Amino acid sequence: MRAKALPFLIFCLSIVQCFSHAAESNGASEKPETVSFETAGGLRHSFPKGFVFGTATSAYQVEGMAEKDGRGPSIWDEFVKIPGIVANNATGEVAVDQYHHYKEDVDIMKMLNFDAYRFSISWSRIFPDGTGKVNWLGVAYYNRLIDYMIEKGITPYANLYHYDLPLALEKKYKGLLSYQEKQKGRIGILLDFVYYEPLTSSKADNLAAQRARDFHIGCISPCDCSHI
Ligand SMILES: *[C@@H]1O[C@H](CO)[C@@H](O)[C@H](O)[C@H]1NC(C)=O
Repeated sequence: MRAKALPFLIFCLSIVQCFSHAAESNGASEKPETVSFETAGGLRHSFPKGFVFGTATSAYQVEGMAEKDGRGPSIWDEFVKIPGIVANNATGEVAVDQYHHYKEDVDIMKMLNFDAYRFSISWSRIFPDGTGKVNWLGVAYYNRLIDYMIEKGITPYANLYHYDLPLALEKKYKGLLSYQEKQKGRIGILLDFVYYEPLTSSKADNLAAQRARDFHIGCISPCDCSHI
């Protein structure tokens, strides 16, 4: 089961921990409470100047519109359709529909005081067949997203490849494998693993560390952590 889970872990949405604290009320007056959000749990000032706080997603994880507006299939579209591979036969066809809700998502990043958003570009949304013909509707979507991020002061970090190879290239070249013979390369695997230690020996910190470890290696998919 773990081998199946691994690609999903890579798709984890990572959001830096945030917390809010209410502004102090002014004496006994009944001013409405204002809430401010501070990235990194209020410790931002202790990071070096220029340190970038951001959010990150992968295209297939969030965009939706997987079979619409001219997008071609990626290896994920085929993979998730294998019976039993994903709980409840879930797919990324709709996901959180960032394709339509990107403004709300960027607004939330702004509200949380993030500096950057690292999103990925779905290769098969731009090149439905992997190469050749360009899907301009897809290009227009990324233009809208990037323009809105710039308007809101969120720096775009575009990831050009987040493990979602166009299916056409997988079929034609067996993905990256067909280069192996020509390049005399070796195929390896990178295990995306983070280990967490409890801050103190308290029960609460131990449980928190266990929960964080489970999120990375203990559950079937990050969308199915409710049992932890
Ligand atoms: C998932 O798909 C399989 C095969 O089509 C079907 O038998 C099963 O009932 C589906 N499960 C759910 C939870 O929809």
